[in-house]
Amino acid sequence: MSEPKKLFIKTYGCQMNVYDSERMAEALGGEGYVPTDRADDADMILLNTCHIREKAAEKVYSELGRFRGLKEEKPDLKIGVAGCVAQAEGAEIMERQPLVDLVVGPQSYHRLPELERKARNGEKALDTEFPEEDKFDHLKGRPKAARGPTAFLTVQEGCDKFCAFCVVPYTRGAEVSRPADRVIAEAHSLVERGVREITLLGQNVNAYHGHDDGLAGLIWALDKIDGLERIRFTTSHPNDMDEALIEAHGTCAKLMPYLHLPVQSGSDRILKRMNRKHTAEQYIRLIERIRSARPDILLSGDFIVGFPEETDADFADTMTLIREVGYGQAYSFKYSTRPGTPAAEREQVAEEVKSARLQELQALLTDQQRAAQDAMVGRKVSVLFEKPGRETGQMVGKSEYLHAVHVTAPDIGAGDIRPVRIVASNPNSLSGEIVG
Ligand code: 5AD
Ligand code: SF4
Repeated sequence: MSEPKKLFIKTYGCQMNVYDSERMAEALGGEGYVPTDRADDADMILLNTCHIREKAAEKVYSELGRFRGLKEEKPDLKIGVAGCVAQAEGAEIMERQPLVDLVVGPQSYHRLPELERKARNGEKALDTEFPEEDKFDHLKGRPKAARGPTAFLTVQEGCDKFCAFCVVPYTRGAEVSRPADRVIAEAHSLVERGVREITLLGQNVNAYHGHDDGLAGLIWALDKIDGLERIRFTTSHPNDMDEALIEAHGTCAKLMPYLHLPVQSGSDRILKRMNRKHTAEQYIRLIERIRSARPDILLSGDFIVGFPEETDADFADTMTLIREVGYGQAYSFKYSTRPGTPAAEREQVAEEVKSARLQELQALLTDQQRAAQDAMVGRKVSVLFEKPGRETGQMVGKSEYLHAVHVTAPDIGAGDIRPVRIVASNPNSLSGEIVG
């Protein structure tokens, strides 16, 4: 029997890329590839790229340059670029960097086996179409191997919102939802393989319309799956948080009390210029409704500082909003010019101003994060254990609120869910003891 070929995938960016990398590995599994975590051991290297912020293509070029030596040693090594940079600039990359054999956009992963064969025949293989068919439908023959207790499941892709700073509507295309029956079938298969927590993914996941009752309808359908204990979803847009979804946070026990709901800015003027289509006040009222459905929910957000034309007063409004909401988790970025997006053409904020604002904003968010973590001390949470910790006998898992929790208890295994009393708050995690 011939040796299996080895596949090394390096994943950048969001959780959807993590999911896609798994799907790509499965698609190429059918072609005799097994995964490796070493580039120098691989017969094929795929970079699954992200285009959300500046210098994305430059990073890809420099990463590719590092593989030159490998390719010289091993001329049969095939190198591919996947993901959003492939979608946006793949043809150019292929032209400029002769090391690249294969370019595949995020909507074409099901065509990877074909592209791989083409590349093996010494041809350049490129596919950045937005095909009509559902790529996930064509990714059949999933391996049935057991896997860890948590999984991502993409239910929706693309975005029709066109925020003025964002490339996603261009790289991932228009909003498309996968039909609920297919998502439910995939969830069943994940649960059969040992998964106990599923995070539903979508660029605009709460705009999901593959179920008659939207995302809430899908969540309630998944709630019926025995063995599936926890459901999460990300990322949401404030304008798509409908009543049924808010209510589900109060009534669906499997839906975890954690919500990532980006607002980007607290200034109405900037929100308007960003094309977010809501005000700061509307966002705050929405948070109040969500908290009255689920008072202990932990909120997470995304913020951009230094959006074109942002003044000190606009920035102060963002700080005020953050103080008013109180986030348990957050991601913050300096505005990054993306060619082809409306904001790229506007008057830019100076780099030093952006850096100073980011520092101030992150200091506040870090304080809030810290406070939310410290407030867990003494509380009883439920932890889904995932893997051994650094010390012997230690296991690490996640609480309902997505905090990492360490426990020393030799009889705990991956996939166990146990009540834990939190005894200490560490820099990036909590420590606890099993109770009951
Ligand atoms: N510059 C900075 N941050 C951006 N994001 C999206 N586009 C840009 C950009 N051009 C951030 C937003 C979004 C997150 C995924 O990335 O905050 O919610
Ligand atoms: Fe980008 Fe806005 Fe769509 Fe989110 S909602 S993916 S930030 S355009």
